[in-house]
Amino acid sequence: MAEISLRREAESKVPWAGHFDLYAEIIPDYDDFKEALKREHPSHLRVNLLKTTPDSLIPRLRKWGGRLTPLPIKGAYSFTGLERPGATLEYFLGHYHLQGLSSMLPPLLLDLAPGQKIIDLCASPGSKTTQIAALTGNRALIVANELKRRRLGILKYHIERLGVLSTLITNYQAQNFPMRLPDGRPLRFDRVLLDAPCTGEGRHREVMREQEMELMQPWRPESSLRMSGYQKQMILRGFDLLSEGGILVYSTCTYSPIENEAVIQHLLDNRETASIEEAGIEGIKTTPGITCWEGKEFAADMKKTIRIYPHYLDSWGFFIAKIRKAC
Ligand SMILES: C[S@@+](CC[C@H](N)C(=O)[O-])C[C@H]1O[C@@H](n2cnc3c(N)ncnc32)[C@H](O)[C@@H]1O
Repeated sequence: MAEISLRREAESKVPWAGHFDLYAEIIPDYDDFKEALKREHPSHLRVNLLKTTPDSLIPRLRKWGGRLTPLPIKGAYSFTGLERPGATLEYFLGHYHLQGLSSMLPPLLLDLAPGQKIIDLCASPGSKTTQIAALTGNRALIVANELKRRRLGILKYHIERLGVLSTLITNYQAQNFPMRLPDGRPLRFDRVLLDAPCTGEGRHREVMREQEMELMQPWRPESSLRMSGYQKQMILRGFDLLSEGGILVYSTCTYSPIENEAVIQHLLDNRETASIEEAGIEGIKTTPGITCWEGKEFAADMKKTIRIYPHYLDSWGFFIAKIRKAC
């Protein structure tokens, strides 16, 4: 099937037209932002350094017509020319994973090292779990948690395909993840990733691939508020699961401050050992988190969180916060 026939106009399913005007005051260069939404998301992949190297993969994909261009992150490439990028021999062998550039950023802020105990509280389909495994050389204990049973299969598939070891899959509500082992000992982690379910505004482009369309939900005014309620419960549990001195990274692929800065503020208001750390990433143009929204003031340190916009980084819109638990 030709690649072009897999794309269609997003407006037919998602009533987004004019929606982003809500954020016109907080998104810098707003007209450029709207222009960026008219372009489809480029194709990105992450070379799976657990199984191969760019030097080995690039010539192999060229044989299928693929042309790879490096992105500012190690192992990340944009590509053109692959008609079915999820159906090559190299894909099935686990030599690469299809993952948007902005989705590769949250694990980079976890300050990962071999030997750590790490939990990915909302893990499916496993893009970040498998990236964490690669960044720790398969030498960390990772718990990949996912609530929805129907999404466990795809998580397991990617973990196996990409050669990830030392990973346990669990099936809890993140906000109720157990704080104790069955023998009563406390359960704590050195690193917590909360890549929270969200309204997904950052995934909207006017032209999308079929698979991208399936991920989109129609936007409703009450959606952000409802999501924010869950996200606030999840971040408190994620923080409580953290060891002293540990790091929690919170991310969403949405622009709504209600699901981003307001969630971080809720954590600061309820846990005095939480503090925000700088979340910059070399080579990636980011915008600071905001300190005021609809009359509500946020902590000045909210400027240390980052917002990713498609007119500055041609990928999905994202919000990322790096939180430290004091010793
Ligand atoms: C943004 S996606 C995670 C993407 C994943 N981190 C990745 O990089 O591939 C959010 C995931 O959270 C799951 N989820 C929704 N509610 C949850 C909850 N209460 N507890 C745990 N997971 C939940 C969704 O089913 C979805 O798979």
